[in-house]
Amino acid sequence: MNNPLRRMHLRFIELRAFQKLLNRHNITLQGKILLDAACGSGYSLRLLQKTFKPKNLIGFDFMPAQARLARRFKGQASYFLGDATQLPLVDELFDGLFAFGMLHHVENWQGAVQEFYRVLSPGGYLLVEEPSRSVVNFFGTYFGFEFPVQGQFEWHEFENVLEKSGFKKIACKNLYCSCLRFYLFQKPLAK
Ligand SMILES: C[S@@+](CC[C@H](N)C(=O)[O-])C[C@H]1O[C@@H](n2cnc3c(N)ncnc32)[C@H](O)[C@@H]1O
Repeated sequence: MNNPLRRMHLRFIELRAFQKLLNRHNITLQGKILLDAACGSGYSLRLLQKTFKPKNLIGFDFMPAQARLARRFKGQASYFLGDATQLPLVDELFDGLFAFGMLHHVENWQGAVQEFYRVLSPGGYLLVEEPSRSVVNFFGTYFGFEFPVQGQFEWHEFENVLEKSGFKKIACKNLYCSCLRFYLFQKPLAK
């Protein structure tokens, strides 16, 4: 997750895909309060900082080993070690929340989605990038990566959980023949 290929993909493909979704819907996150969930090495923190010049940017990850790297990349952003399913953050704090390729790593990803809903302010945006279930299986089978079985979902299951948590789907974009998906959700102003 901290190799040059991953970083290039984040910078030139994933961040740009999110920007296109935001632009198409006339949404600006410039100068807002943003959260980067499970930011791993923290490279995405640097990208988000540069792209959106947020008022405040916070990142977190579960793995202590990532913290050392994240300190190198985080720049002006704040960083903490934490679990996406139990965030030590107050309600309705963020205008935007980025989740780059992390939910399929989380056993209780539904719990993480609920936490994302809680910490987003009404009208706030959730941006999720996820590989399809078959891609997760492929990497598990042929590259020996370990993913929790519970974190492997079909797109319709994923969308159902998000909708039940209260999110409204604004847009969705497929990449590489649906191997990768980019979602833009909104927490409605009033439930
Ligand atoms: C594939 S990496 C993605 C890292 C980064 N977002 C990126 O796109 O490069 C998945 C990350 O999820 C983190 N993670 C897994 N379960 C987590 C949890 N419950 N809470 C927070 N982070 C978690 C892992 O430590 C890992 O850094």
